[in-house]
Amino acid sequence: MKNILVTGGAGFIGSNFVQYILDHSDIIRVVNLDLLTYAGNLANLKGCENDERYHFVRGDIRDRELLKQLFSEYEIDTVVHFAAESHVDRSITEPEIFLSTNVLGTQALLDVAKDSWKIEPDNKYSREYREAVRFLQVSTDEVYGALGKEGMFTEVTPMAPNSPYSASKASADMVVRAYHNTFGLPINITRCSNNYGPYQFPEKLIPLMIHNAQNDKSLPVYGDGMQVRDWLHVKDHCAAIWTVLQKGRIGEVYNVGGNNEKANIEIVKLILKQLGKPESLIEYVQDRPGHDRRYAIDNTKITTELGWQPEYTFEQGIEETIEWYLQNSEWVENVTSGDYLQYYELMYN
Ligand code: NAD
Ligand code: DAU
Repeated sequence: MKNILVTGGAGFIGSNFVQYILDHSDIIRVVNLDLLTYAGNLANLKGCENDERYHFVRGDIRDRELLKQLFSEYEIDTVVHFAAESHVDRSITEPEIFLSTNVLGTQALLDVAKDSWKIEPDNKYSREYREAVRFLQVSTDEVYGALGKEGMFTEVTPMAPNSPYSASKASADMVVRAYHNTFGLPINITRCSNNYGPYQFPEKLIPLMIHNAQNDKSLPVYGDGMQVRDWLHVKDHCAAIWTVLQKGRIGEVYNVGGNNEKANIEIVKLILKQLGKPESLIEYVQDRPGHDRRYAIDNTKITTELGWQPEYTFEQGIEETIEWYLQNSEWVENVTSGDYLQYYELMYN
């Protein structure tokens, strides 16, 4: 692993991952390909700008000519594919871009990776690839659908996505699987639970609630607030991806989660408490259509087979995260201006 192409490296998890690999390895080159949609922000990468191993390219994962050029120019041997439309609520109002970016974008990347890495690209029967190449698809627990009160998602739980977002991610996973089975492309898929931490766009639960509470605005809790998510610190997710790249068996799916289930309302009350704000700011609003009730990841495979373990406790992680948002109000102000405000008006008013 020498030259990594990270897609969506200016988003929340991607930017944390770029920083993580520069800090934790002697990797030769990290090429960050990002379109800089509303969710992409180069301010997330200030710490990497002067690292000569780091290269930023603004572009679209659906642009095959650009992809071919990048694979050749930077001798890409590893792809870590984060780029996506990632917000469930947006997928309900604008599904098309989710299918275009998440499914067709993934397929464009797979095609270019296959053709660049295959020893005989024109031989459809050949399954031989250059040494040590790998395509890692960053996926989500949402592909498995929703759980009732009991049970957990394992890697063999059947996919049953419920939102246009999760359907697009499940479709992309299927295409990645097909490129492995049909063409022998060396792949892994990771399916992680809800992340939290620095640089998360404040349309997602935790940063949105922190931002509103800070500004004494109401905190919009969907339905009864008893939906459960399994929260993992973003740095633990980055470490899990890094572990899979180094030790994961080719063709395997690995679930990633921290055994940390919380009801939404618990998180909202915890944020209010830590900020010293009253619970009267909570406003129960109409539920998200098709809202998944509960997610929970069984992480046995990655912990026992690859030795990965989350390092953050939720108490430590959430405290640090709230502090980060308080200390980085300029970052929050910048991303909550312009386009995002229009989206906010549309969603909640
Ligand atoms: P994000 O929305 O913060 O970032 C997505 C990034 O992709 C942005 O920088 C955006 O500019 C870029 N992008 C979008 N369309 C693009 C295109 N056509 N070409 C190039 N770049 C494009 O998302 P995130 O929360 O960091 O999630 C990253 C990945 O991890 C996604 O694939 C998501 O499905 C997956 N995931 C997220 C979570 C979570 O809790 N956030 C959990 C599990 C898996
Ligand atoms: O599980 C992994 C997934 O987690 C990722 O694949 C997605 O990219 C990521 O966005 C996230 O999806 P969720 O829908 O779980 O995250 P979100 O932060 O949007 O919502 C978390 C929970 O909080 C969910 O039950 C909906 C609820 N919620 C969310 C918002 C934005 C509210 O009650 N009010 C809100 O305003």
